[in-house]
Amino acid sequence: MASATESHTSRVTLRVNGTDHVLPLDHRVTLLDALREHLGLTGAKKGCDHGQCGACTVLVDGRRMNSCLLLAVAQDGAHVTTVEGLAAVAATDSTDSTVSTVGALHPLQQAFIDRDAFQCGFCTPGQLCSAVAAIEEAASGHPSHVTPDDVLAEPGRRVTLTAPEIRERLSGNICRCGAYPRIVDAVLDVIE
Ligand code: FES
Ligand code: FES
Repeated sequence: MASATESHTSRVTLRVNGTDHVLPLDHRVTLLDALREHLGLTGAKKGCDHGQCGACTVLVDGRRMNSCLLLAVAQDGAHVTTVEGLAAVAATDSTDSTVSTVGALHPLQQAFIDRDAFQCGFCTPGQLCSAVAAIEEAASGHPSHVTPDDVLAEPGRRVTLTAPEIRERLSGNICRCGAYPRIVDAVLDVIE
């Protein structure tokens, strides 16, 4: 008969940055804690742990999510991309299940550097993951609250990412250093 402790644990497969990880996880562990505490991927940050700051944003099956709000056990089999996986090449060290990343930066990462789009950098991994998804969402025709009426009149039409569109779409990612103007500039650089 399973003990109380065992009954709270399941083996979960997380596909993180192209590598499968099978982890025995307590059902109460969030995806954010699984990434940080079990896989050593500390790029996604724990800011509020309440879904309010966006510092923990990662991509789950291509969609941006606040990983502090997701139970890891519910993501069994999902493809997760963290800021560490945005770079072109990820090398996996299978001996300790940690992931190191080498190679070229994602164009958005380079744009953040070129535009000096951060100060402390705490929000930056979330901003990057969120912006990568936002660019894809706009290209796929997903409107935002500020999308012009003429674009809304054609469902599925590609949305041009203007500065107001970028500000609106990244409004879930809080930057306590106030680097917003340069973050917008960096995103504009990439889409241009
Ligand atoms: Fe997840 Fe703030 S830590 S939204
Ligand atoms: Fe410091 Fe955004 S750069 S919180």
